Amino acid sequence: MSEGLRNEFEQVIFNSQSSLHRHQVPHKEAIPHDLDILFMTPHDHYSNLNPPQHHRNLIERVVDIMHPDIPLAAFPATMFHIPPHGEVPAHVDNPDYGRRTGIVFPITPYDPDKWAPCKTGIHEPDTYCEFHSCYAFSTDARHEVYNNEYVRSMVQIWVDLDCSEVYDRFKTGKLFKPLNSKDFFFV
Ligand SMILES: [Fe+2]
Repeated sequence: MSEGLRNEFEQVIFNSQSSLHRHQVPHKEAIPHDLDILFMTPHDHYSNLNPPQHHRNLIERVVDIMHPDIPLAAFPATMFHIPPHGEVPAHVDNPDYGRRTGIVFPITPYDPDKWAPCKTGIHEPDTYCEFHSCYAFSTDARHEVYNNEYVRSMVQIWVDLDCSEVYDRFKTGKLFKPLNSKDFFFV
């Protein structure tokens, strides 16, 4: 993601504190957590939601990078926010979401030394997912984040494929479209 687009998302999260949702759905693993969602496009479960066109356009520019053969979740992208020292204890995502893999673009803090890594693992979250400008993780595996003193915000694209399949598609050049825009580019 370009620095310009990242700055646009940073402004959006900064200006949208009152629109953050602390999501908690009935699920066998429903747990107290500090993860807030900013819905930037309309959502079936939130009929009052009417995100500004600016937000919708931003998400469209992100989702547009995906290769057309990649199955996306019904709700394909969201922005997330974890407050300083917020905790997201180990869990697996509700399979009803149809989003087995999350592709993450860190927004703040955009610094490997300041970004609190998530931990993930099939049985227990025992492997660090360190900072990268873009990375993917399996929502089927147990995952957790214990944030540090910085606001942790990110954009995530939701893909309904196993994480290993996402990696295979990436290796064969079939995860993203050939990119050459001011928002995303190959180097
Ligand atoms: Fe999760």
